[in-house]
Amino acid sequence: MKYGHFDDANKEYVITNPQTPFPWINYLGNEDFFGLVSNTAGGYAFYKDAKFRRLTRYRYNNIPMDNGGRYFYIKDEDTIWSPGWKPVKTPLDKYECRHGLSYSKITGVKNGVSAESTFFIPLKTWAEVHHLKLTNDSDSVKKLKLFSFMEWCLWNAEDDQNNLQRNLNTGEVEVEGSTIYHKTEYKERRNHYAFYSVNTPINGYDTNRESFVGLYNELSGPQAVLDGKPHNSEAHGWSPVASHYIEVELQPGEAKDFIFVLGYVENPEEDKWESKGVINKKPALAIQQKFDTAEKVENALAELKSYWENLLSIINLESKDDKLNRMVNIWNQYQCMVTFNMSRSASFFEVGIGRGMGFRDSNQDLIGFVHQVPERARERIIDIASTQFPDGGCYHQYQPLTKRGNDAIGGGFNDDPLWLILGTVSYIKETGDFSILDEMVPFDNDESIAQSLFDHLTISFNHVIKNLGPNGLPLIGRADWNDCLNLNCFSTNPNESFQTTENNTKGSKAESVMIAGLFVVYGTDYVELCEKLGKTDEAARAKSEVNKMAEAVKSKGWDGEWFLRAYDFYGNKVGSDENEEGKIFIESQGWCTMAGIGKDEGMCEKSLDAVKERLDCEYGIVLNNPAFTRYVVEYGEISTYPKGYKENAGIFCHNNPWIMIGETRIGRGDRAWEYYQKICPAYLEEISDLHRTEPYVYAQMIAGKDAYIPGEAKNSWLTGTAAWNFYAITQFILGVRPEYEGLLVDPCLPKAMEEYQFTRKFRGATYKINIVNGERGHGVKALSINGNKVDGNLIPLQKAGGVYQVEVIMY
Ligand code: GLC
Ligand code: GLC
Repeated sequence: MKYGHFDDANKEYVITNPQTPFPWINYLGNEDFFGLVSNTAGGYAFYKDAKFRRLTRYRYNNIPMDNGGRYFYIKDEDTIWSPGWKPVKTPLDKYECRHGLSYSKITGVKNGVSAESTFFIPLKTWAEVHHLKLTNDSDSVKKLKLFSFMEWCLWNAEDDQNNLQRNLNTGEVEVEGSTIYHKTEYKERRNHYAFYSVNTPINGYDTNRESFVGLYNELSGPQAVLDGKPHNSEAHGWSPVASHYIEVELQPGEAKDFIFVLGYVENPEEDKWESKGVINKKPALAIQQKFDTAEKVENALAELKSYWENLLSIINLESKDDKLNRMVNIWNQYQCMVTFNMSRSASFFEVGIGRGMGFRDSNQDLIGFVHQVPERARERIIDIASTQFPDGGCYHQYQPLTKRGNDAIGGGFNDDPLWLILGTVSYIKETGDFSILDEMVPFDNDESIAQSLFDHLTISFNHVIKNLGPNGLPLIGRADWNDCLNLNCFSTNPNESFQTTENNTKGSKAESVMIAGLFVVYGTDYVELCEKLGKTDEAARAKSEVNKMAEAVKSKGWDGEWFLRAYDFYGNKVGSDENEEGKIFIESQGWCTMAGIGKDEGMCEKSLDAVKERLDCEYGIVLNNPAFTRYVVEYGEISTYPKGYKENAGIFCHNNPWIMIGETRIGRGDRAWEYYQKICPAYLEEISDLHRTEPYVYAQMIAGKDAYIPGEAKNSWLTGTAAWNFYAITQFILGVRPEYEGLLVDPCLPKAMEEYQFTRKFRGATYKINIVNGERGHGVKALSINGNKVDGNLIPLQKAGGVYQVEVIMY
């Protein structure tokens, strides 16, 4: 069953039933200031860091789910309703939510009144705009009472929930004109406050939650709304909120616009105050003035739309498959921007408190984003590398506000350093900007021990070969990409986290075949980079290490029919036919086949056939098989999950594209395409009931074949799945890949795909590449640029500014 439909022309998903199988959300904001908004106007806003600068409150895992947001209450005689259906839940005559690119438009119609609310964050602005348009479509005069409502968070989202003995005393507000200011802690160490304004005179307000809602009421029926009048309350401590009250009279056919602005302001120390105890409001008023008419707001929204038009024009596909087009051209790219911005910090599943920007995750996010805004990718690479340790090891994450690394979600993951090579190389291939390698980058944010970014890459490469185990394979550390394969934790205490508990690497023989494959892939990239830079000795040294690793995998990492996953602490095989459960894992099949290890000996083909036979199912490829049914202390968290979920035989969508790419390496386009479609949200729209998460974005996990309900997805939005699927479909299946010297055209297609046009803006030129499939579906037979034949399948760089027509005929 569907709950809406795609509107490709407007680049929107249109939800027509508010009772979606889970809140279906969207993101507002592109840089610095962000908001999340659900299809019923739930969600929250923050500046840069969802933990340290949270503007509005949101309670996770609430009853019902998704309570709190930017709410409007309309009282029309005795009927009270909300344009987004919630929180009042009065049945609407019409409901529609259009989630677009960085904006959402939610419309409710009741008893002849239409309320259209558009939420967005204008470019380069630290504020959300909520444009509410009320229209009287009835033939009688309407006298409406309008209430806005949102609840302030006392800035630190974690402390806000925990430290009530303090926090119930600290809340402070000011009200001036139609603006409610939130200034908790401004008088001491904070240089920032927030405000919620409206561009029209108000007839009252509330800033104290209890006065507005009532101590025993719920958000569906606040006392002030029931009474039809506010209390003009001023919060001192307790829970500060912001609610405007406006009396609206509409003649038949008349419409009125109300522009609410939820903003964030920072003032320099010497300019904090207007007078004693009265905050300096100038910057806030300036923001309000920029958006005080419907016309100004519509212009700002138009600017935002053209910003996205521009970004999305860099890669564009025209094929006969609408679902594929809308994923490649709109939604997958959009999700890549969101994952780049948020890493794994703030979604409806990630509370924005524990997790910041991940070393491993953010590097991988770059492969789906670097073509969009390369300058931001560049800055990100430097920020990430700045948290690396001098020995190549890494903080697993850093806080976006402070850019300082922390080990709040663990450390000692031995795959981490290699992802920096991926991030950097992807950036250089996209831009040709080798100068990034010369940037001086600190270790652990200590400028005094800075070295060049290139040195960081060398140190990353060396970190692997300095940490090899008894079989010549990389030691796993706490874990590799799979955070839950904890081979050195041996945890028996339910009160400790597998991610942060002691990591017993001393005497451990735990080695990872996945890191070995990863090393062959990114070690080879490193070798190529050294060659490009003329560092031939270093290239030769690195190459021999890479070859050694590939040999070690062939002799010690092969189980006969597939690649082993690892060796445990004691040196026993993990992911072998010898094991009772967890005989085969996806990660090592993905990485070793992407690396092409043992390809000539038939290992890649065998490995991928084993994936098909043992791991594939109706909804995607599961992580391992058989699923674990008991706790294995020497494996850790993976065996804590019920079978079929998360890392224990769930379809962990992030790794499915590794198999797709592996399949393209051996020329099996039909297989790669089949795997692509299985987890791609646009193809799952019809089964939204089962799938549950948004049909326009990927989820981290879909319950696997062993689960209680196979096919149910969880953790949508913030997942490496976005970047990896975009990378797999555009660069390996459709096959247009940036290389140092140009664009490589190397598709591996399903037989059924006949022809498509792939437009690529690359280093200043535009390439319109028309690809005609052949019998085999891979291998380029002929390539021409503007009618001139080119040997091979590389489009060499053309003059910037030009538009080039490229014709490609495949075998
Ligand atoms: C989560 C983490 C990621 C990890 C993956 C597998 O998505 O963010 O870092 O690789 O789980 O455990
Ligand atoms: C684990 C999750 C994994 C995540 C890790 C770190 O509980 O299963 O996906 O990467 O925690 O947050």
